[in-house]
Amino acid sequence: MLLTVKILVFIVSGFLRVGTGFDIGLSTKCVVIPKEMDMCHEIGYSEMRLPNLMGHTSMAEVVLKSTTWQHLVHTDCHPHVRMFLCSLFAPICLDTFIHPCRSMCVGVRDSCAPVLACHGHAWPESLDCNRFPADEDMCLASLTKEYKYLHKVLPKPACQTCPAVEELFTHKRVPEVFCDSNFAVKVKLSKKRAVIGDQEYNIECHVEFITQGSLLPYETQHMIQQWLLINENCTQRMTQTHRPMVYLLVGKIEEGIILVNQIYRWQRRDSQLTLATQKWRYHKCL
Ligand SMILES: *[C@@H]1O[C@H](CO)[C@@H](O)[C@H](O)[C@H]1NC(C)=O
Repeated sequence: MLLTVKILVFIVSGFLRVGTGFDIGLSTKCVVIPKEMDMCHEIGYSEMRLPNLMGHTSMAEVVLKSTTWQHLVHTDCHPHVRMFLCSLFAPICLDTFIHPCRSMCVGVRDSCAPVLACHGHAWPESLDCNRFPADEDMCLASLTKEYKYLHKVLPKPACQTCPAVEELFTHKRVPEVFCDSNFAVKVKLSKKRAVIGDQEYNIECHVEFITQGSLLPYETQHMIQQWLLINENCTQRMTQTHRPMVYLLVGKIEEGIILVNQIYRWQRRDSQLTLATQKWRYHKCL
């Protein structure tokens, strides 16, 4: 979160490509970014222009339309997704409108459109990258190098087919079923009603290692959270009630992508599962 703020301030002050400005006209005003619009908090400024660059004319409309993007921002599908969307939904209150550069749009679109597709949505017409200025004009630019660097280092969750959720562990030859995988995490999921909208839910997860494999200790919680947000369809199946549920997620990292291969419901009475995971820690896979 802090990193995003810093990058944004950095970009607004230093990476703005200055050329001809856009005529703002007299019809826009500066208003405080409302607290319901979580997505654009802590982005380095607190006031936005209304109407915004999406053509929303009332604050109610801005808040309503931005909530559908909240999920995408939380998936961290691109390091600049928040900045990109907020520059459109809550443009900074300067003398001119500053559009995101086309290159930033393309970068965000290429990374985030697959996540939208995973949720059953297409990249919207309103965010068609051809509508944004080319990089030689005044616009908000990406720090491409930094992105590539981050991208390379950390494995990422991606959209995948949901593994079946197995209710009871019934395998006889216990550890072999895990040998195709190299990590296992115990995940406690709770579904919380979101601040705005009756239909909106936040999923909270708590992650505990069974086998760490090639997962990094300090990034795992975040990565599993991202996996759950990207693979919303799988998450919905795992959180059908409001009771907190515990699952064992077993998977592997392949070419920088985190894949979950097996999901078991972790029930206390399922001693087989507990036993299997204990054995697996010391098991040498062939
Ligand atoms: C998830 O669900 C949505 C809506 O039901 C659907 O359109 C989409 O294709 C699903 N995604 C996957 C990966 O199955």
